Amino acid sequence: MFIAFVTVLLAAANAAFPLIWQILIDQAIGGSVDQVITAVFVVLFMVRVVPFVYLLKTRFLNRYEFNTRLQLFKHVLRLSVPFHKDKESTKVLLEANKGVSAATGLLRMFLQGDIIADIPVAVFAFWYIGAHSIVALLVLVIFLVAFWMLSYWLGQKIAKVEEEYNEVDNEVSAREREVVQQIEMVKLHCAESQEERWFRVSAQKVLELDNRKVAYHTWFQLMASLAHVLPFCIALLIFLPEVTKGTLTVGTLIALQIYATMAVGPVGYLASMYHEIKANAAKIKPALQLLEQQPTVTESNAPVEMKPLRHEICFKDIAFQYPGADKPVLCGISLTVAAGEKVAVVGKTGSGKTTLARLLVRFYDPDHGLVTMDGTDLRQLSFDSLYRQISYVTQEVPIFSGTIGENVRYGLPDCGNDHVMVACVNASADFAFQQKQGLQTLVGELGEKLSGGERQRLALARIFLRHPSVLILDEATSALDQMTEREVQTAFDRLLQMNGGTTMVVIAHRITTVKNADRIFVMDKGRIEDYGTHEELLGRCNLYQELCRGMTE
Ligand SMILES: Nc1ncnc2c1ncn2[C@@H]1O[C@H](COP(=O)(O)OP(=O)(O)OP(=O)(O)O)[C@@H](O)[C@H]1O
Ligand SMILES: [Mg+2]
Repeated sequence: MFIAFVTVLLAAANAAFPLIWQILIDQAIGGSVDQVITAVFVVLFMVRVVPFVYLLKTRFLNRYEFNTRLQLFKHVLRLSVPFHKDKESTKVLLEANKGVSAATGLLRMFLQGDIIADIPVAVFAFWYIGAHSIVALLVLVIFLVAFWMLSYWLGQKIAKVEEEYNEVDNEVSAREREVVQQIEMVKLHCAESQEERWFRVSAQKVLELDNRKVAYHTWFQLMASLAHVLPFCIALLIFLPEVTKGTLTVGTLIALQIYATMAVGPVGYLASMYHEIKANAAKIKPALQLLEQQPTVTESNAPVEMKPLRHEICFKDIAFQYPGADKPVLCGISLTVAAGEKVAVVGKTGSGKTTLARLLVRFYDPDHGLVTMDGTDLRQLSFDSLYRQISYVTQEVPIFSGTIGENVRYGLPDCGNDHVMVACVNASADFAFQQKQGLQTLVGELGEKLSGGERQRLALARIFLRHPSVLILDEATSALDQMTEREVQTAFDRLLQMNGGTTMVVIAHRITTVKNADRIFVMDKGRIEDYGTHEELLGRCNLYQELCRGMTE
Protein backbone atom coordinates (compact mmCIF):
# COMPACT_ATOMS: atom_id res chain seq x y z
CA MET A 1 0.00 0.00 0.00
CA PHE A 2 2.76 2.36 1.04
CA ILE A 3 4.78 1.37 -2.07
CA ALA A 4 1.73 2.17 -4.26
CA PHE A 5 1.28 5.56 -2.57
CA VAL A 6 4.94 6.50 -3.04
CA THR A 7 4.81 5.24 -6.65
CA VAL A 8 1.86 7.54 -7.46
CA LEU A 9 3.66 10.43 -5.81
CA LEU A 10 6.82 9.79 -7.81
CA ALA A 11 4.81 9.45 -11.04
CA ALA A 12 3.23 12.86 -10.47
CA ALA A 13 6.64 14.33 -9.64
CA ASN A 14 8.17 12.72 -12.77
CA ALA A 15 5.42 14.06 -15.05
CA ALA A 16 5.88 17.56 -13.68
CA PHE A 17 9.67 17.38 -13.77
CA PRO A 18 10.30 18.67 -17.34
CA LEU A 19 7.67 21.42 -16.87
CA ILE A 20 9.49 22.60 -13.73
CA TRP A 21 12.74 22.72 -15.71
CA GLN A 22 11.00 24.56 -18.55
CA ILE A 23 9.81 27.30 -16.19
CA LEU A 24 13.09 27.44 -14.28
CA ILE A 25 15.35 27.64 -17.34
CA ASP A 26 13.19 30.30 -18.97
CA GLN A 27 13.11 32.27 -15.69
CA ALA A 28 16.86 31.79 -15.12
CA ILE A 29 17.50 33.11 -18.64
CA GLY A 30 15.23 35.98 -17.68
CA GLY A 31 17.42 36.63 -14.53
CA SER A 32 15.43 34.97 -11.64
CA VAL A 33 17.60 32.62 -9.48
CA ASP A 34 15.36 31.90 -6.38
CA GLN A 35 13.22 29.26 -8.11
CA VAL A 36 16.34 27.48 -9.40
CA ILE A 37 17.44 26.99 -5.77
CA THR A 38 13.95 25.65 -4.82
CA ALA A 39 14.12 23.19 -7.73
CA VAL A 40 17.49 21.88 -6.56
CA PHE A 41 15.83 21.07 -3.20
CA VAL A 42 12.96 19.26 -4.97
CA VAL A 43 15.48 17.14 -6.90
CA LEU A 44 17.42 16.39 -3.71
CA PHE A 45 14.19 15.25 -2.01
CA MET A 46 13.39 12.87 -4.88
CA VAL A 47 16.91 11.44 -4.86
CA ARG A 48 16.54 10.69 -1.12
CA VAL A 49 13.15 8.98 -1.49
CA VAL A 50 14.22 6.66 -4.34
CA PRO A 51 16.67 4.48 -2.31
CA PHE A 52 14.04 4.11 0.41
CA VAL A 53 11.52 2.78 -2.12
CA TYR A 54 14.26 0.52 -3.51
CA LEU A 55 14.82 -0.92 -0.02
CA LEU A 56 11.11 -1.73 0.41
CA LYS A 57 10.87 -3.33 -3.00
CA THR A 58 14.01 -5.42 -2.49
CA ARG A 59 12.69 -6.68 0.84
CA PHE A 60 9.42 -7.61 -0.81
CA LEU A 61 11.31 -9.45 -3.59
CA ASN A 62 13.54 -11.33 -1.16
CA ARG A 63 10.48 -12.46 0.77
CA TYR A 64 8.82 -13.51 -2.51
CA GLU A 65 11.87 -15.59 -3.53
CA PHE A 66 12.11 -17.19 -0.10
CA ASN A 67 8.39 -18.11 -0.07
CA THR A 68 8.47 -19.49 -3.62
CA ARG A 69 11.49 -21.69 -2.87
CA LEU A 70 9.81 -22.89 0.30
CA GLN A 71 6.60 -23.74 -1.62
CA LEU A 72 8.61 -25.57 -4.26
CA PHE A 73 10.54 -27.57 -1.65
CA LYS A 74 7.31 -28.44 0.20
CA HIS A 75 5.76 -29.48 -3.11
CA VAL A 76 8.73 -31.72 -3.96
CA LEU A 77 8.57 -33.36 -0.52
CA ARG A 78 4.86 -34.08 -1.07
CA LEU A 79 5.48 -35.80 -4.41
CA SER A 80 5.38 -39.60 -4.29
CA VAL A 81 8.29 -42.00 -4.53
CA PRO A 82 7.62 -42.95 -8.22
CA PHE A 83 8.28 -39.33 -9.24
CA HIS A 84 11.55 -39.21 -7.32
CA LYS A 85 12.66 -42.58 -8.73
CA ASP A 86 11.80 -41.77 -12.33
CA LYS A 87 12.80 -38.14 -12.66
CA GLU A 88 16.18 -37.59 -10.93
CA SER A 89 14.44 -35.25 -8.55
CA THR A 90 17.60 -33.56 -7.19
CA LYS A 91 18.40 -32.34 -10.72
CA VAL A 92 14.79 -31.27 -11.24
CA LEU A 93 14.82 -29.30 -7.98
CA LEU A 94 18.10 -27.57 -8.87
CA GLU A 95 16.69 -26.53 -12.25
CA ALA A 96 13.46 -25.38 -10.64
CA ASN A 97 15.35 -23.24 -8.12
CA LYS A 98 17.18 -21.59 -11.01
CA GLY A 99 13.71 -20.88 -12.40
CA VAL A 100 12.62 -19.23 -9.14
CA SER A 101 15.65 -16.93 -9.26
CA ALA A 102 14.84 -16.10 -12.90
CA ALA A 103 11.20 -15.35 -12.03
CA THR A 104 12.27 -13.15 -9.11
CA GLY A 105 14.67 -11.34 -11.46
CA LEU A 106 11.76 -10.61 -13.82
CA LEU A 107 9.56 -9.39 -10.99
CA ARG A 108 12.44 -7.22 -9.75
CA MET A 109 12.75 -5.69 -13.18
CA PHE A 110 9.01 -5.13 -13.35
CA LEU A 111 8.87 -3.45 -9.95
CA GLN A 112 12.04 -1.44 -10.29
CA GLY A 113 11.01 -0.16 -13.69
CA ASP A 114 8.02 1.69 -12.21
CA ILE A 115 6.02 0.85 -15.33
CA ILE A 116 2.73 1.59 -13.57
CA ALA A 117 3.92 5.09 -12.81
CA ASP A 118 5.64 5.53 -16.20
CA ILE A 119 2.61 4.78 -18.44
CA PRO A 120 0.54 7.84 -17.37
CA VAL A 121 3.69 9.94 -17.62
CA ALA A 122 4.24 8.68 -21.19
CA VAL A 123 0.60 9.43 -22.12
CA PHE A 124 1.04 12.98 -20.82
CA ALA A 125 4.34 13.27 -22.73
CA PHE A 126 2.66 12.18 -26.00
CA TRP A 127 -0.12 14.70 -25.45
CA TYR A 128 2.38 17.48 -24.70
CA ILE A 129 4.49 16.70 -27.81
CA GLY A 130 1.35 16.31 -29.99
CA ALA A 131 0.08 19.67 -28.75
CA HIS A 132 3.31 21.26 -30.09
CA SER A 133 3.75 19.28 -33.32
CA ILE A 134 1.73 16.45 -34.96
CA VAL A 135 4.77 15.65 -37.16
CA ALA A 136 6.94 15.07 -34.07
CA LEU A 137 4.23 12.84 -32.64
CA LEU A 138 4.06 10.77 -35.85
CA VAL A 139 7.84 10.40 -36.08
CA LEU A 140 7.92 9.19 -32.47
CA VAL A 141 5.11 6.64 -33.08
CA ILE A 142 6.88 5.26 -36.20
CA PHE A 143 10.11 5.05 -34.24
CA LEU A 144 8.37 3.11 -31.46
CA VAL A 145 6.71 0.63 -33.84
CA ALA A 146 10.06 -0.07 -35.57
CA PHE A 147 11.77 -0.47 -32.22
CA TRP A 148 9.11 -2.88 -30.97
CA MET A 149 9.25 -5.02 -34.14
CA LEU A 150 13.03 -5.34 -33.91
CA SER A 151 12.76 -6.26 -30.21
CA TYR A 152 10.18 -8.92 -31.03
CA TRP A 153 12.42 -10.47 -33.67
CA LEU A 154 15.44 -10.46 -31.35
CA GLY A 155 13.28 -11.87 -28.51
CA GLN A 156 12.39 -14.92 -30.64
CA LYS A 157 16.05 -15.54 -31.45
CA ILE A 158 17.07 -15.14 -27.80
CA ALA A 159 14.37 -17.54 -26.56
CA LYS A 160 15.58 -20.26 -28.92
CA VAL A 161 19.24 -19.94 -28.06
CA GLU A 162 18.51 -19.67 -24.31
CA GLU A 163 16.48 -22.89 -24.39
CA GLU A 164 19.29 -24.76 -26.17
CA TYR A 165 21.84 -23.27 -23.79
CA ASN A 166 19.90 -24.29 -20.66
CA GLU A 167 19.39 -27.82 -21.88
CA VAL A 168 23.08 -28.40 -22.63
CA ASP A 169 24.27 -26.51 -19.54
CA ASN A 170 21.98 -28.52 -17.20
CA GLU A 171 23.14 -31.76 -18.78
CA VAL A 172 26.79 -30.82 -18.28
CA SER A 173 26.21 -29.77 -14.65
CA ALA A 174 24.30 -32.99 -13.87
CA ARG A 175 27.01 -35.17 -15.39
CA GLU A 176 29.73 -33.20 -13.58
CA ARG A 177 27.98 -33.85 -10.26
CA GLU A 178 27.53 -37.52 -11.05
CA VAL A 179 31.16 -38.01 -12.02
CA VAL A 180 32.38 -36.45 -8.77
CA GLN A 181 29.93 -38.59 -6.74
CA GLN A 182 31.19 -41.73 -8.51
CA ILE A 183 34.86 -40.75 -8.27
CA GLU A 184 35.94 -44.20 -7.03
CA MET A 185 34.42 -45.84 -10.11
CA VAL A 186 36.09 -43.26 -12.38
CA LYS A 187 39.49 -43.92 -10.80
CA LEU A 188 39.15 -47.72 -10.80
CA HIS A 189 38.35 -47.62 -14.51
CA CYS A 190 41.07 -45.04 -15.30
CA ALA A 191 38.30 -43.00 -16.91
CA GLU A 192 39.64 -39.54 -16.04
CA SER A 193 40.72 -38.75 -19.59
CA GLN A 194 37.45 -40.16 -21.00
CA GLU A 195 35.47 -37.88 -18.66
CA GLU A 196 37.76 -34.95 -19.47
CA ARG A 197 37.20 -35.47 -23.20
CA TRP A 198 33.47 -35.63 -22.67
CA PHE A 199 33.57 -32.43 -20.63
CA ARG A 200 35.69 -30.65 -23.22
CA VAL A 201 33.26 -31.47 -26.05
CA SER A 202 30.12 -30.62 -24.03
CA ALA A 203 31.57 -27.48 -22.46
CA GLN A 204 32.61 -26.33 -25.94
CA LYS A 205 28.95 -26.56 -27.00
CA VAL A 206 27.95 -24.54 -23.92
CA LEU A 207 30.59 -21.95 -24.78
CA GLU A 208 29.40 -21.59 -28.39
CA LEU A 209 25.78 -21.19 -27.31
CA ASP A 210 26.83 -18.71 -24.64
CA ASN A 211 28.67 -16.63 -27.26
CA ARG A 212 25.58 -16.59 -29.50
CA LYS A 213 23.47 -15.63 -26.51
CA VAL A 214 25.80 -12.77 -25.58
CA ALA A 215 25.78 -11.50 -29.20
CA TYR A 216 21.96 -11.27 -29.25
CA HIS A 217 21.89 -9.61 -25.83
CA THR A 218 24.48 -7.06 -26.98
CA TRP A 219 22.40 -6.19 -30.04
CA PHE A 220 19.44 -5.69 -27.81
CA GLN A 221 21.38 -3.50 -25.37
CA LEU A 222 22.58 -1.38 -28.29
CA MET A 223 19.01 -0.97 -29.52
CA ALA A 224 17.78 -0.13 -26.02
CA SER A 225 20.39 2.58 -25.52
CA LEU A 226 19.63 4.04 -28.96
CA ALA A 227 15.95 4.05 -28.04
CA HIS A 228 16.88 6.16 -25.06
CA VAL A 229 19.00 8.71 -26.91
CA LEU A 230 17.33 8.98 -30.34
CA PRO A 231 14.00 10.54 -29.23
CA PHE A 232 15.99 13.26 -27.44
CA CYS A 233 17.85 14.02 -30.70
CA ILE A 234 14.69 13.75 -32.84
CA ALA A 235 12.99 16.36 -30.65
CA LEU A 236 16.03 18.62 -30.97
CA LEU A 237 16.06 18.31 -34.81
CA ILE A 238 12.33 18.97 -35.10
CA PHE A 239 12.00 21.81 -32.58
CA LEU A 240 15.36 23.64 -32.84
CA PRO A 241 14.31 25.64 -35.96
CA GLU A 242 11.35 27.02 -33.97
CA VAL A 243 13.70 28.18 -31.18
CA THR A 244 15.86 29.86 -33.84
CA LYS A 245 12.76 31.54 -35.27
CA GLY A 246 11.82 32.66 -31.76
CA THR A 247 8.44 30.82 -31.69
CA LEU A 248 9.62 28.41 -28.96
CA THR A 249 11.57 29.13 -25.75
CA VAL A 250 14.75 27.21 -24.85
CA GLY A 251 13.00 25.88 -21.70
CA THR A 252 10.14 24.44 -23.81
CA LEU A 253 12.68 22.80 -26.18
CA ILE A 254 14.38 21.09 -23.22
CA ALA A 255 11.00 20.05 -21.76
CA LEU A 256 10.01 18.59 -25.18
CA GLN A 257 13.29 16.69 -25.39
CA ILE A 258 12.81 15.20 -21.91
CA TYR A 259 9.17 14.35 -22.72
CA ALA A 260 10.26 12.62 -25.96
CA THR A 261 12.53 10.36 -23.87
CA MET A 262 9.75 9.78 -21.35
CA ALA A 263 7.27 8.90 -24.12
CA VAL A 264 9.55 6.10 -25.31
CA GLY A 265 10.33 4.95 -21.74
CA PRO A 266 7.52 2.42 -21.15
CA VAL A 267 7.83 0.93 -24.66
CA GLY A 268 11.58 0.56 -24.23
CA TYR A 269 10.96 -0.87 -20.83
CA LEU A 270 8.28 -3.30 -22.07
CA ALA A 271 10.63 -4.38 -24.87
CA SER A 272 13.31 -5.05 -22.25
CA MET A 273 10.76 -7.00 -20.21
CA TYR A 274 9.79 -9.00 -23.28
CA HIS A 275 13.45 -9.64 -23.99
CA GLU A 276 14.02 -10.79 -20.39
CA ILE A 277 10.90 -12.97 -20.37
CA LYS A 278 12.03 -14.67 -23.56
CA ALA A 279 15.54 -15.09 -22.15
CA ASN A 280 14.28 -16.53 -18.84
CA ALA A 281 11.33 -18.60 -20.06
CA ALA A 282 13.56 -21.64 -20.57
CA LYS A 283 14.74 -21.37 -16.96
CA ILE A 284 11.24 -20.87 -15.53
CA LYS A 285 9.70 -23.78 -17.47
CA PRO A 286 11.13 -26.59 -15.24
CA ALA A 287 9.75 -24.85 -12.12
CA LEU A 288 6.28 -24.63 -13.68
CA GLN A 289 6.46 -28.24 -14.86
CA LEU A 290 7.48 -29.31 -11.36
CA LEU A 291 4.54 -27.44 -9.83
CA GLU A 292 2.19 -29.21 -12.26
CA GLN A 293 3.27 -32.62 -10.94
CA GLN A 294 0.82 -34.14 -8.48
CA PRO A 295 1.48 -36.89 -5.92
CA THR A 296 0.38 -40.28 -7.28
CA VAL A 297 0.16 -41.93 -3.86
CA THR A 298 -2.16 -39.70 -1.86
CA GLU A 299 -3.58 -39.61 1.62
CA SER A 300 -7.32 -40.17 2.05
CA ASN A 301 -9.47 -37.08 2.64
CA ALA A 302 -10.61 -38.57 5.94
CA PRO A 303 -7.50 -40.48 7.04
CA VAL A 304 -7.79 -43.15 9.73
CA GLU A 305 -5.25 -43.30 12.55
CA MET A 306 -3.34 -46.56 12.52
CA LYS A 307 -3.02 -48.20 15.93
CA PRO A 308 -0.28 -50.78 16.73
CA LEU A 309 -1.03 -53.92 14.69
CA ARG A 310 -3.29 -56.30 16.65
CA HIS A 311 -4.58 -58.84 14.13
CA GLU A 312 -2.98 -59.17 10.72
CA ILE A 313 -1.53 -57.72 7.55
CA CYS A 314 -3.29 -58.96 4.40
CA PHE A 315 -2.27 -58.84 0.73
CA LYS A 316 -5.43 -59.68 -1.24
CA ASP A 317 -5.01 -60.68 -4.89
CA ILE A 318 -2.35 -58.06 -5.61
CA ALA A 319 -1.18 -57.17 -9.12
CA PHE A 320 1.38 -54.46 -9.76
CA GLN A 321 3.40 -53.06 -12.63
CA TYR A 322 5.94 -50.21 -12.31
CA PRO A 323 4.90 -47.03 -14.16
CA GLY A 324 6.36 -47.17 -17.66
CA ALA A 325 7.39 -50.86 -17.35
CA ASP A 326 6.20 -53.29 -20.00
CA LYS A 327 5.24 -56.23 -17.79
CA PRO A 328 3.79 -56.75 -14.31
CA VAL A 329 6.14 -57.43 -11.41
CA LEU A 330 3.56 -58.96 -9.05
CA CYS A 331 0.57 -61.10 -10.05
CA GLY A 332 -2.17 -62.63 -7.88
CA ILE A 333 -0.32 -62.24 -4.57
CA SER A 334 -2.44 -63.19 -1.57
CA LEU A 335 -0.92 -63.70 1.84
CA THR A 336 -1.58 -62.98 5.49
CA VAL A 337 0.90 -62.17 8.24
CA ALA A 338 -0.44 -62.47 11.79
CA ALA A 339 0.43 -59.80 14.37
CA GLY A 340 3.60 -60.73 16.25
CA GLU A 341 4.61 -63.23 13.59
CA LYS A 342 8.06 -63.30 12.03
CA VAL A 343 7.87 -64.16 8.36
CA ALA A 344 10.60 -64.33 5.76
CA VAL A 345 10.37 -63.76 2.02
CA VAL A 346 12.89 -65.49 -0.21
CA GLY A 347 13.21 -65.84 -3.96
CA LYS A 348 15.59 -65.41 -6.83
CA THR A 349 16.82 -61.92 -7.62
CA GLY A 350 14.19 -59.90 -9.46
CA SER A 351 11.31 -62.10 -8.21
CA GLY A 352 9.53 -59.10 -6.64
CA LYS A 353 10.42 -59.25 -2.93
CA THR A 354 11.40 -55.59 -2.58
CA THR A 355 8.39 -54.55 -4.63
CA LEU A 356 6.14 -56.38 -2.16
CA ALA A 357 7.74 -54.41 0.70
CA ARG A 358 7.31 -51.12 -1.20
CA LEU A 359 3.57 -51.76 -1.46
CA LEU A 360 3.42 -52.39 2.28
CA VAL A 361 4.95 -48.97 3.01
CA ARG A 362 2.84 -47.31 0.30
CA PHE A 363 5.73 -46.11 -1.85
CA TYR A 364 3.43 -47.43 -4.57
CA ASP A 365 -0.22 -48.51 -4.59
CA PRO A 366 -1.19 -51.83 -6.20
CA ASP A 367 -2.89 -51.73 -9.62
CA HIS A 368 -5.28 -54.43 -8.46
CA GLY A 369 -6.20 -55.85 -5.05
CA LEU A 370 -5.83 -54.55 -1.52
CA VAL A 371 -3.23 -54.35 1.21
CA THR A 372 -4.86 -54.11 4.63
CA MET A 373 -3.72 -53.76 8.22
CA ASP A 374 -6.17 -55.01 10.82
CA GLY A 375 -8.80 -54.95 8.06
CA THR A 376 -8.24 -51.32 7.01
CA ASP A 377 -7.08 -50.57 3.47
CA LEU A 378 -3.64 -48.90 3.65
CA ARG A 379 -5.04 -46.10 1.47
CA GLN A 380 -7.38 -45.11 4.32
CA LEU A 381 -4.57 -44.70 6.86
CA SER A 382 -2.89 -41.40 7.60
CA PHE A 383 0.73 -41.32 6.42
CA ASP A 384 1.81 -40.03 9.78
CA SER A 385 0.37 -42.95 11.75
CA LEU A 386 1.40 -45.51 9.10
CA TYR A 387 5.06 -44.50 9.32
CA ARG A 388 4.91 -44.37 13.10
CA GLN A 389 3.83 -48.01 13.17
CA ILE A 390 5.92 -49.37 10.34
CA SER A 391 9.69 -49.26 9.72
CA TYR A 392 11.40 -50.32 6.54
CA VAL A 393 15.15 -50.86 6.37
CA THR A 394 16.89 -51.72 3.13
CA GLN A 395 20.38 -52.76 2.15
CA GLU A 396 21.27 -49.26 0.96
CA VAL A 397 21.03 -47.22 4.14
CA PRO A 398 20.34 -43.54 3.56
CA ILE A 399 22.70 -41.46 5.71
CA PHE A 400 22.71 -37.66 5.75
CA SER A 401 25.89 -35.65 6.21
CA GLY A 402 25.93 -34.57 9.85
CA THR A 403 26.65 -36.39 13.11
CA ILE A 404 25.99 -39.99 14.09
CA GLY A 405 23.49 -38.79 16.71
CA GLU A 406 21.52 -36.70 14.18
CA ASN A 407 21.33 -39.69 11.85
CA VAL A 408 20.04 -42.09 14.49
CA ARG A 409 17.38 -39.67 15.78
CA TYR A 410 16.38 -38.63 12.24
CA GLY A 411 12.68 -37.74 12.30
CA LEU A 412 12.69 -37.61 16.13
CA PRO A 413 14.79 -34.48 16.75
CA ASP A 414 13.72 -34.17 20.40
CA CYS A 415 14.95 -37.62 21.34
CA GLY A 416 17.60 -37.39 24.07
CA ASN A 417 21.14 -38.81 23.89
CA ASP A 418 20.35 -41.48 26.53
CA HIS A 419 17.70 -43.03 24.31
CA VAL A 420 19.97 -42.81 21.27
CA MET A 421 22.73 -44.60 23.15
CA VAL A 422 20.44 -47.42 24.31
CA ALA A 423 19.22 -47.84 20.72
CA CYS A 424 22.83 -48.00 19.51
CA VAL A 425 23.70 -50.68 22.11
CA ASN A 426 20.66 -52.74 21.08
CA ALA A 427 21.62 -52.48 17.40
CA SER A 428 25.23 -53.50 18.20
CA ALA A 429 26.20 -50.02 17.05
CA ASP A 430 28.39 -49.34 20.10
CA PHE A 431 31.02 -47.95 17.74
CA ALA A 432 28.84 -44.85 17.62
CA PHE A 433 29.72 -43.62 21.07
CA GLN A 434 33.14 -45.25 21.29
CA GLN A 435 34.41 -42.61 18.85
CA LYS A 436 36.40 -39.70 20.33
CA GLN A 437 33.54 -37.32 19.72
CA GLY A 438 30.84 -39.86 20.50
CA LEU A 439 27.46 -39.18 18.94
CA GLN A 440 28.84 -35.86 17.69
CA THR A 441 31.18 -37.66 15.26
CA LEU A 442 30.68 -36.40 11.71
CA VAL A 443 29.85 -39.08 9.14
CA GLY A 444 30.92 -37.17 6.00
CA GLU A 445 28.90 -36.47 2.89
CA LEU A 446 26.20 -39.19 2.51
CA GLY A 447 27.89 -41.09 5.35
CA GLU A 448 30.99 -41.87 3.29
CA LYS A 449 33.14 -42.26 6.43
CA LEU A 450 31.11 -45.27 7.60
CA SER A 451 31.55 -48.88 6.52
CA GLY A 452 28.59 -50.80 5.06
CA GLY A 453 28.09 -52.70 8.32
CA GLU A 454 28.24 -49.49 10.40
CA ARG A 455 25.63 -47.87 8.19
CA GLN A 456 23.33 -50.87 8.58
CA ARG A 457 23.74 -50.80 12.35
CA LEU A 458 22.83 -47.11 12.46
CA ALA A 459 19.71 -47.92 10.45
CA LEU A 460 18.85 -50.65 12.95
CA ALA A 461 19.43 -48.25 15.84
CA ARG A 462 16.79 -45.97 14.27
CA ILE A 463 14.33 -48.85 14.59
CA PHE A 464 15.12 -49.45 18.26
CA LEU A 465 14.39 -45.79 18.86
CA ARG A 466 11.02 -45.91 17.14
CA HIS A 467 9.58 -49.19 18.43
CA PRO A 468 7.43 -49.81 15.35
CA SER A 469 4.75 -52.49 15.53
CA VAL A 470 5.65 -53.70 12.01
CA LEU A 471 9.23 -54.06 10.86
CA ILE A 472 10.40 -54.86 7.33
CA LEU A 473 14.04 -55.76 6.90
CA ASP A 474 15.03 -55.97 3.24
CA GLU A 475 18.57 -57.37 3.19
CA ALA A 476 19.07 -55.06 6.16
CA THR A 477 21.68 -57.22 7.87
CA SER A 478 23.45 -58.49 4.76
CA ALA A 479 26.54 -56.33 5.35
CA LEU A 480 27.04 -57.59 8.90
CA ASP A 481 29.36 -60.45 9.78
CA GLN A 482 27.54 -63.48 11.14
CA MET A 483 28.48 -62.81 14.76
CA THR A 484 27.17 -59.24 14.66
CA GLU A 485 24.07 -60.39 12.81
CA ARG A 486 23.37 -62.94 15.57
CA GLU A 487 23.74 -60.17 18.20
CA VAL A 488 21.32 -57.97 16.26
CA GLN A 489 18.92 -60.89 15.81
CA THR A 490 18.90 -61.45 19.58
CA ALA A 491 18.18 -57.76 20.06
CA PHE A 492 15.34 -58.03 17.53
CA ASP A 493 13.94 -61.00 19.39
CA ARG A 494 13.81 -58.70 22.43
CA LEU A 495 12.12 -56.03 20.31
CA LEU A 496 9.60 -58.62 19.15
CA GLN A 497 8.54 -59.06 22.75
CA MET A 498 8.13 -55.30 23.36
CA ASN A 499 5.02 -53.34 22.33
CA GLY A 500 2.95 -56.50 22.73
CA GLY A 501 4.94 -58.14 19.91
CA THR A 502 6.50 -56.61 16.80
CA THR A 503 5.54 -58.15 13.47
CA MET A 504 8.56 -58.79 11.29
CA VAL A 505 8.92 -59.32 7.57
CA VAL A 506 12.47 -60.33 6.68
CA ILE A 507 13.70 -60.41 3.10
CA ALA A 508 17.11 -62.05 2.82
CA HIS A 509 19.41 -64.20 0.75
CA ARG A 510 21.20 -65.61 3.81
CA ILE A 511 19.79 -68.87 5.13
CA THR A 512 20.73 -68.14 8.76
CA THR A 513 18.68 -64.95 8.59
CA VAL A 514 15.48 -66.64 7.45
CA LYS A 515 15.42 -70.17 8.74
CA ASN A 516 14.11 -69.31 12.22
CA ALA A 517 11.12 -67.43 10.80
CA ASP A 518 7.64 -68.71 11.76
CA ARG A 519 6.80 -68.98 8.06
CA ILE A 520 8.82 -68.51 4.92
CA PHE A 521 7.21 -67.32 1.65
CA VAL A 522 8.97 -68.42 -1.52
CA MET A 523 8.55 -66.04 -4.45
CA ASP A 524 9.07 -66.75 -8.10
CA LYS A 525 8.48 -64.36 -10.99
CA GLY A 526 6.08 -62.15 -9.03
CA ARG A 527 4.04 -65.01 -7.51
CA ILE A 528 4.05 -66.88 -4.20
CA GLU A 529 5.31 -70.33 -5.11
CA ASP A 530 4.92 -71.91 -1.65
CA TYR A 531 5.09 -71.11 2.04
CA GLY A 532 5.75 -72.94 5.30
CA THR A 533 8.49 -73.47 7.88
CA HIS A 534 12.09 -74.06 6.88
CA GLU A 535 11.74 -77.82 7.45
CA GLU A 536 8.40 -78.09 5.62
CA LEU A 537 9.75 -76.24 2.58
CA LEU A 538 12.99 -78.24 2.55
CA GLY A 539 10.85 -81.35 2.38
CA ARG A 540 8.57 -80.34 -0.50
CA CYS A 541 9.57 -77.16 -2.38
CA ASN A 542 12.12 -77.65 -5.17
CA LEU A 543 12.68 -73.92 -5.58
CA TYR A 544 13.36 -73.50 -1.84
CA GLN A 545 15.81 -76.41 -1.90
CA GLU A 546 17.52 -74.80 -4.89
CA LEU A 547 17.61 -71.43 -3.11
CA CYS A 548 19.02 -73.02 0.06
CA ARG A 549 21.79 -74.68 -1.93
CA GLY A 550 22.67 -71.28 -3.40
CA MET A 551 22.13 -69.31 -0.18
CA THR A 552 25.13 -68.26 1.87
CA GLU A 553 25.33 -69.80 5.33
N1 LIG B 1 11.43 -48.47 -10.20
C1 LIG B 1 11.33 -49.52 -11.03
N2 LIG B 1 10.85 -49.32 -12.29
C2 LIG B 1 10.73 -50.35 -13.14
N3 LIG B 1 11.04 -51.62 -12.84
C3 LIG B 1 11.53 -51.89 -11.62
C4 LIG B 1 11.70 -50.84 -10.66
N4 LIG B 1 12.19 -51.40 -9.54
C5 LIG B 1 12.33 -52.73 -9.79
N5 LIG B 1 11.93 -53.02 -11.03
C6 LIG B 1 11.89 -54.36 -11.65
O1 LIG B 1 10.96 -55.15 -10.92
C7 LIG B 1 11.44 -56.48 -10.81
C8 LIG B 1 11.39 -56.92 -9.34
O2 LIG B 1 12.30 -56.13 -8.62
P1 LIG B 1 12.52 -56.27 -7.05
O3 LIG B 1 13.44 -55.22 -6.63
O4 LIG B 1 11.19 -56.34 -6.38
O5 LIG B 1 13.23 -57.71 -6.97
P2 LIG B 1 13.84 -58.46 -5.72
O6 LIG B 1 13.15 -59.76 -5.61
O7 LIG B 1 13.83 -57.60 -4.53
O8 LIG B 1 15.34 -58.69 -6.23
P3 LIG B 1 16.70 -58.72 -5.36
O9 LIG B 1 16.75 -60.02 -4.65
O10 LIG B 1 17.75 -58.62 -6.41
O11 LIG B 1 16.68 -57.55 -4.44
C9 LIG B 1 12.82 -56.53 -11.42
O12 LIG B 1 12.71 -57.09 -12.71
C10 LIG B 1 13.22 -55.08 -11.52
O13 LIG B 1 14.02 -54.84 -12.65
MG1 LIG C 1 15.32 -56.60 -3.39
